[in-house]
Amino acid sequence: MSAAASEFAIDVTGVTKRFGSKTVVNGIDLQVRRGEIYGFLGPNGSGKTTFIRMLCGLLTPDGGQGTCLGYNVRTQQAEIKRQVGYMTQRFSYYEDLSIRENLDFVARIYDVPDRAAAVDRSLERLGLQNRSTQLAGQLSGGWKQRLALAACLIHSPLLLLLDEPTAGVDPKARREFWEEIHQLSAEGLTVLITTHYMDEAERCHRLAYLAYGNLLARGTLDEVLHSVALTTWTVSGPNLRALADQLRGRDGIEQVVAFGNTLHVSGRDQARLEAAISAVKNPAHTWTRVRSGLEDVFISLMDQAKDNFA
Ligand SMILES: Nc1ncnc2c1ncn2[C@@H]1O[C@H](COP(=O)(O)OP(=O)(O)OP(=O)(O)O)[C@@H](O)[C@H]1O
Ligand SMILES: [Mg+2]
Repeated sequence: MSAAASEFAIDVTGVTKRFGSKTVVNGIDLQVRRGEIYGFLGPNGSGKTTFIRMLCGLLTPDGGQGTCLGYNVRTQQAEIKRQVGYMTQRFSYYEDLSIRENLDFVARIYDVPDRAAAVDRSLERLGLQNRSTQLAGQLSGGWKQRLALAACLIHSPLLLLLDEPTAGVDPKARREFWEEIHQLSAEGLTVLITTHYMDEAERCHRLAYLAYGNLLARGTLDEVLHSVALTTWTVSGPNLRALADQLRGRDGIEQVVAFGNTLHVSGRDQARLEAAISAVKNPAHTWTRVRSGLEDVFISLMDQAKDNFA
């Protein structure tokens, strides 16, 4: 199939990776439409980076098949690498080269035509012109991340694989970064991005949640929220710590989490949850049913997975 023929930038099934006796990516199916921003979430060690490395041709899967930009992920790794921009989880440019020198170096590796102009365009696009002579090693986290994004865009890829690009970056810089991602997506780029931030997850068109190498939920934000029928109540009032102790461990109660001056209390079985709440209710507290948040849903999925895969 030619690269242009499929509506999917990523279309893989059964992707599996084992290290020794451990299966770290277990039969994952994933389809990402062209131009889509796809969020990849999951606890540490769940297999996100390993999966990304199989997509961009850096690791060969032990099982499964499919295409990335229309190219076979097992046999056409060289073609894939040319059209994918991969931002690694750790900053990986030369700290003793300037921003411009780093970009020039990457452009040279990719054999970018009219290199100087490409570097200029990339500096301008990410607002790096005034800092172009600054050494990469002296940049703050937010500027390093901009340099990394500029570097993975310089060969005009069709797909961006961004592995925790905003870890340790302040909220304003994260917001600007996401504006840029949405702009790139509007221009037709496909973006697969891993993150541990829930606000970022909500900015993706679609999400997948991985734990222990297994894909546990996927879809739009609403689809993911509904895929786990989790009921959540909040409670406010005096002595919430004591109340939390009373609630924890009761049948039907899965999560009791403090948020400022309220507790969030969740469970998957609504009747059992509400029976448990009734047992500790007193007039001093105000209880309100709320929509479960993405974080509550993910923690519930992870707890369930822990039971299933233990
Ligand atoms: N080259 C390797 N050899 C052996 N084990 C590996 C190797 N690479 C990764 N692993 C293991 O595979 C599992 C998945 O790791 P991976 O880095 O893909 O997780 P992750 O979801 O990206 O985690 P994080 O959120 O911490 O970045 C981990 O248990 C890790 O220790
Ligand atoms: Mg990782």
